[in-house]
Amino acid sequence: MKLVSALHNKEIFRIVSRSAKKIQQDCYVVGGYVRDFLLGKNDSKDLDILTIGEGILLAKEVSKYIKPSPRINIFKRFGTAMLEYNNQKIEFVGSRKESYCSHSRHPVIEFGSLQDDQNRRDFTINALAISLNENNYGELIDPFGGLLDLKRKILKTPLNSDITYSDDPLRMMRAIRFATQLQFFIEESSFLSIQKNKNRINIVSIERIIDEFNKILLSKNPSIGLFLLYKSGLLSIILPELTLLQGIEEKNGYKHKDNFYHTLQVVDNISKETNSIWLRWAALLHDIGKSYTKKFLPKIGWSFHSHEFVGSKMVTNIFKRLKLPKGIPLKYVKKMIQHSYRPIALIEKNTRDSAIRRLLFDMGEDIGDLIKLCIADITTNNLEKKKQYKKNFCLLMKRIKQLEEKDRIKNWKSPISGNDIMKAFHIHPCKEIGIIKNFIKESILEGKISNEFHSAYFMMLKKGEDLGLKKNN
Ligand code: CTP
Repeated sequence: MKLVSALHNKEIFRIVSRSAKKIQQDCYVVGGYVRDFLLGKNDSKDLDILTIGEGILLAKEVSKYIKPSPRINIFKRFGTAMLEYNNQKIEFVGSRKESYCSHSRHPVIEFGSLQDDQNRRDFTINALAISLNENNYGELIDPFGGLLDLKRKILKTPLNSDITYSDDPLRMMRAIRFATQLQFFIEESSFLSIQKNKNRINIVSIERIIDEFNKILLSKNPSIGLFLLYKSGLLSIILPELTLLQGIEEKNGYKHKDNFYHTLQVVDNISKETNSIWLRWAALLHDIGKSYTKKFLPKIGWSFHSHEFVGSKMVTNIFKRLKLPKGIPLKYVKKMIQHSYRPIALIEKNTRDSAIRRLLFDMGEDIGDLIKLCIADITTNNLEKKKQYKKNFCLLMKRIKQLEEKDRIKNWKSPISGNDIMKAFHIHPCKEIGIIKNFIKESILEGKISNEFHSAYFMMLKKGEDLGLKKNN
């Protein structure tokens, strides 16, 4: 199969082809670019060029034909080089054979042929190559039937799956990630091999695992990948807190829902509303406290009392173990989980404004995300109920917006500063300042005074007097 006309459109292929001829090294377009190109996806993706010889040498030759001359990043240890052309990263790799020892994650590398390179790739759909050589320019070299697998939507390893996954166990995660992103099936024997080799994932660095995991979480329907991770046994290695949620227990006629499958639904629901990776993480972990707080109360049924609090505490360790960022993302996910049940308590009509102000105060700018999470959490199959619950949250959001417009609580800053208090009573820094400030805050949240300087000043004088302070005249 020839793809010449498509290749003609891109000047870079001509440049690479000419350069490779000059240094007498064959070269091919390989990897994800070819896959996505054949899937008809846009071609802005990074380009991988394989050359039978030295990758660095070819990159240097190519750079001579580009004006202004691009910067070449050289990775000597791997024999690769990268340059940018028209905002596209182009990576040059010399053909190599590599294998991994059972005790190490570092590969042993030798030079090889195009066939060797294709053999060592992860999936048949990623083992396709397009020639840039003069004698067969544009020819698709497809030794494993990758094109057919693309059409049949199948993920298959080029060699025996045990070898492919054992060579780089991250590929087990990649199989599930591609299955999720592309909505492809993993060939049965390949999936069995993942189940068999799942423990090999332990030799892969957690950063690489999480990179794939986040790609699954960022896809259109993350539940596809989360379910496959669960079925393969990988999820109980990476995130056992989630698999513990699986199962339904029944006692005295009382049943609780399967919190694992519920979580998958919540993650899919939130993914329709947001591309924020951290809001998706919050959805993923929102019920993890349930397996630790589950209790059966006679005549009442199953209780998961304070699971939000327990769950939010668990997030710190999970983030640490998975090397997820400690700063704002961690705080955000914890906050989301901790407060995830508060809006439900506020949907009644007679809810006091003060309760809504307090939620606004605690959530700040993230209030909208919290309501999104609450709506995503509605997974009942009863359509009437579903409609009603959603409506309740929309009404609550409306009330939140109105109150925020009036009271400006979201990014609340005390209208009275510590300096104002020190000046008013002619005092030095002391604990009374904190007491007064807190009293003012409480008065505003309770709705006793409005959120502005004059009312707050009056409140300050009153509280100061109660504390035995004398006004400075
Ligand atoms: N590859 C592999 N085994 C891995 C990683 C990558 O065999 N563990 C090969 C595949 O042939 C892949 C190519 O290297 O197509 C490029 O890898 P990468 O850029 O990581 O992935 P892409 O397939 O391009 O897909 P994406 O950009 O979506 O990650």
